[in-house]
Amino acid sequence: MKVVAVREGEQTPTLMEKPRPEPAAGEALVRTLRVGVDGTDHEVLGGGHGGFPEGEDHLVLGHEAVGVVEDPNGTRFEAGDVVVPTVRRAPEGQEDNEFFARGEPDMTPSGQYQERGIVGAHGFMAEYFTSPGEYLVPLPPELTDIGFLVEPLSITEKALELSYASRSSFEWNPESAMVLGNGCLGLLTLGMFEHTEGIDRSYCLGRRDRPDPTVDIIEAIGATYVDSRETAVDELPDTVESMDLVYEATGYAPHAFQTIEALAPNGVGALLGIPGSWEFEIDGGALHEELVLHNKALIGSVNSHVRHFEGAIEDLQALPDWLIDDVITGVYGTDELDAAFDDSNTTIKTAVELSTR
Ligand code: NAP
Ligand code: BGC
Ligand code: ZN
Repeated sequence: MKVVAVREGEQTPTLMEKPRPEPAAGEALVRTLRVGVDGTDHEVLGGGHGGFPEGEDHLVLGHEAVGVVEDPNGTRFEAGDVVVPTVRRAPEGQEDNEFFARGEPDMTPSGQYQERGIVGAHGFMAEYFTSPGEYLVPLPPELTDIGFLVEPLSITEKALELSYASRSSFEWNPESAMVLGNGCLGLLTLGMFEHTEGIDRSYCLGRRDRPDPTVDIIEAIGATYVDSRETAVDELPDTVESMDLVYEATGYAPHAFQTIEALAPNGVGALLGIPGSWEFEIDGGALHEELVLHNKALIGSVNSHVRHFEGAIEDLQALPDWLIDDVITGVYGTDELDAAFDDSNTTIKTAVELSTR
């Protein structure tokens, strides 16, 4: 079967042939339809995040998949069911890991999990993949073509769940919220602020000149575009307004700390970026005090699990068709990998199509 992989020492995806996998007991065989590409895939290709499966010289890419069950192999599915796989798996021999055992793989400390297509395990960008049935989430068939958006939306489902949980001990109704970053994750999250979260005033930070397709989407959503080259995140309270909720999706490390200043009293900042080592100066004491005296919270959030995928499916149904159409800038065959992995300003969300329904 065809797979899209990155080879050791290379930074671009390659089409390779591999044998079709055989489902083990408890696993279904899935025929892959589409697999989305995100910023993490580019970080994996660049060597800044993730890692190869042990002893292997390549990694099959892709963690945002939708497929159709080919062989249920005794799982709860029927052949023809449309499914979306979750990303994390327990490494072989560590299946009794306490986090996986209690259905919280997304809370597992790093080093104790693999992520398909990212770290230690081959991904879903292959004509077929196998997965334990418990890690496959059924998708309403009418969402098949856009099912690769479920995984990224599930990331925001989890981050918002943690954010609201951190504010659950008092009356907290966020009215102003800002997404930092106008990539795919940022724009989908901004759509959720408007269409599922009921935020009154939403904002999105970017660093692009108009005309730009992401700025058009931000404004069509009804949000306000803020250019970080003109307005620093920690200047927001003086220049725009202070934010009850900030969702960082830039991977730009200074934003994590500037968020503390950007927040309104009792606000929460959810950090999603994975920037790696990055040294810069901050006034740690002032930020510490700001967090304490204004009951602010900063939370980090990574990955997601089945209930977040289920929430994401509802989100996908609530987002307007025009937004989904504008965010998906291309779906490409395996012979068009350059376009599928294009990282220029005209690309927002792409997917690779492995087969059709
Ligand atoms: P992406 O497409 O690379 O988007 C990042 C966006 O942030 C880009 O549009 C970029 O603008 C913008 N940006 C970066 N620095 C900025 C700055 N200083 N000011 C204004 N805008 C800035 O990535 P993505 O797929 O949307 O993901 C966003 C981040 O979340 C990535 O860091 C990714 O690793 C992370 N992520 C984390 C999780 C998790 O589970 N925690 C899940 C998915 C993704 P330009 O395009 O104009 O450069
Ligand atoms: C994926 C998550 C993963 C994270 C860290 C994100 O792009 O969507 O499932 O946990 O990267 O590797
Ligand atoms: Zn991702």
